[in-house]
Amino acid sequence: MSTSKHAMLFQLSLIALSLAGVVAASAPTRTHLQFYMHDIVTPSPGTQATVARVARGTTPLPTAPTTNFGDMYAIDDPLTEGPDAASRAVGRAQGFYLFASQTELALLLSINMVFTAGPHNGSTVAVLARDLIPADVRELPVVGGTGAFRGVTGYGLLRTHFHNVSAHNAVLRIDMYLSV
Ligand SMILES: *[C@@H]1O[C@H](CO)[C@@H](O)[C@H](O)[C@H]1NC(C)=O
Ligand SMILES: *[C@@H]1O[C@H](CO)[C@@H](O)[C@H](O)[C@H]1NC(C)=O
Repeated sequence: MSTSKHAMLFQLSLIALSLAGVVAASAPTRTHLQFYMHDIVTPSPGTQATVARVARGTTPLPTAPTTNFGDMYAIDDPLTEGPDAASRAVGRAQGFYLFASQTELALLLSINMVFTAGPHNGSTVAVLARDLIPADVRELPVVGGTGAFRGVTGYGLLRTHFHNVSAHNAVLRIDMYLSV
């Protein structure tokens, strides 16, 4: 056998090895997480606001007096297992939302889901999304994660479970479909 043939066989076996590695590493773990997010603008006695306005747009704009365009809120919303705020806490949604449309009630949502209990305690998932508030389902692109979710890909679905229009308080159901 010539040297070059040896070299080629060696290279082929390296390729085979790395392919085996790719196959072994390419079976992602898929996880479905469901939880509820409590966005409290107007606290009732015994509760506290989870939202703080940090900027106000120059309203009313002639184009859209009712879309709150330019208003920005920082949030630190509790995440719970069930729709009841008293159900088991699983984490916090920390970040901000900005009213980003002059013609619709639509937010730019930039949040980290910070898990504080259960198997994902200490891990985070970062979401950067458009939240068209009146839509039944809003899709949340997942842009990354940390800890158990390092390198995560996937998406979430956001639904309004409860909305008090006068108090601006909302309970949102979130389903996340993640692959690590
Ligand atoms: C989550 O992890 C932190 C830090 O390790 C720990 O202090 C805390 O008790 C854990 N929480 C739960 C509910 O397991
Ligand atoms: C909605 O909010 C208003 C004002 O805070 C409050 O009086 C009312 O009870 C709330 N309604 C529900 C269904 O929670």
